[in-house]
Amino acid sequence: MTSPASSSSLTVLGHDGSPLSAEARELLERASLVAGGRRHLAAVPVPPGARTIVMGELRAALDAIDEELDREDGDHHVVVVASGDPGFFGIVRALRERGRRPRVLPALSSVQRAFARAGLSWDDALVVSAHGRELRRAVNACRAHPKVAVLTAPGAGPAELARALFPQTPRTFVVCEDLGGPRERVVRVRPAEATTRPWRDPNVVLVLDQRRIAAAAAYGERGWIAGARPGPARWALPPADFAYGAPSRGAAGTGAEIRAFALAKLGPRVGDMVWDVGAGRGEIAIECARFGAAVVAVERDEAACEGIRANVRAHRVKVAVSRGTAPAVLEHLPEPDAVFVGGGGPDVARACAARALRSVVVVVADADRVQGAIDALKGESLATQAVSLSAAPFGAAPAAPVYVVWGERAGTATGPEGRRGRAVPQRPPASAAVTVAELPEMDVDEVDGMDGESASGSVR
Ligand SMILES: C[S@@+](CC[C@H](N)C(=O)[O-])C[C@H]1O[C@@H](n2cnc3c(N)ncnc32)[C@H](O)[C@@H]1O
Repeated sequence: MTSPASSSSLTVLGHDGSPLSAEARELLERASLVAGGRRHLAAVPVPPGARTIVMGELRAALDAIDEELDREDGDHHVVVVASGDPGFFGIVRALRERGRRPRVLPALSSVQRAFARAGLSWDDALVVSAHGRELRRAVNACRAHPKVAVLTAPGAGPAELARALFPQTPRTFVVCEDLGGPRERVVRVRPAEATTRPWRDPNVVLVLDQRRIAAAAAYGERGWIAGARPGPARWALPPADFAYGAPSRGAAGTGAEIRAFALAKLGPRVGDMVWDVGAGRGEIAIECARFGAAVVAVERDEAACEGIRANVRAHRVKVAVSRGTAPAVLEHLPEPDAVFVGGGGPDVARACAARALRSVVVVVADADRVQGAIDALKGESLATQAVSLSAAPFGAAPAAPVYVVWGERAGTATGPEGRRGRAVPQRPPASAAVTVAELPEMDVDEVDGMDGESASGSVR
């Protein structure tokens, strides 16, 4: 009910193609206004006397609903028909934000149906939305997490998702089109194929890393929380936890205390892309991956890359390793939210600052290099600070300080995800219809310590 003074009512009816319940039919019969997408309005019986509103532009539709409910010439009954469970990435939020308290009759969510069609459990799945939101965050979640359901939108669908992931991130796609509708189709494909096929809206895409899913089962992992795993129980791990690879990159970033401070300034989380430039043994890269971020470790030395891969496997996380020399090698990497610079001069810091959407952390062992790093970050409009830090076990001789310079882009460090933040510059490789031959030269490989690839074919 909308207000104590009126008996007008607002109902949100979830629709998934199943026959309507008696309760839903009754509510529709007495509706004075029925609102919904074109396909939903076509799928339900609208009584002859009722007005209809096609929900294209959301604000206009919500205004019309408000107007109907606020009328004082008797009782008015509004039924909004929406897809799946309207309380899940749906219209219920917008109505509540307008002070409405709708009665909700949910149907099965498209995500629930998609996993059922694929015959998979989904309490361990991450569900992300690219519907009216940045595709980039969904892509990063798919890079980092083995089982992701992506709610898509025209222009941010299976093909766009596949182009962003292909070829560095091998995954299986289960594309579920028009679930419960007359054109329902469920197809299992590799991203390469998904880039070129035409796809029908609406669709949900399950993005699966079969090897990691199998490995989690083999390890007998049982979650207690749905969706993303909770953050790591421990971080700023001791140097001994990164046993493989070349000797450490000097003072820069390898001590646990220094790393703790750097991680605090990077703020890695699900949906982020983090670069660890001059990655050494991959300590920062691995810690960021443990927080759920997608990560690229950039390192020019092949032996060091081998060490990073071994450490990544030991920690059972996901990190892409890009062998090459910064800043040139950075050019074709996906946009980073945060960048750690453990190696390279001011030109590297500046190149990273130019691309970073949120923050850059530079660690140098030499006081003479601090001003160059500050200038590089400030030159790219980051609000920049620097500290000298020294940590040694109690009772031991004081350690030589290292210098941490960090910069944050205004308004992005604490803001919500998804819609806000600095606009991502349009870069051709992420969105253009590239073929393998056209892809820029990259030496990026995804490491997780498991072998095998997924099959292509139809789910049913
Ligand atoms: C705003 S969200 C609404 C999600 C909805 N509340 C649910 O529970 O399924 C819209 C997105 O849901 C997905 N979706 C909704 N209905 C679908 C259907 N019948 N088949 C496949 N995907 C669907 C599509 O990704 C679509 O772009």
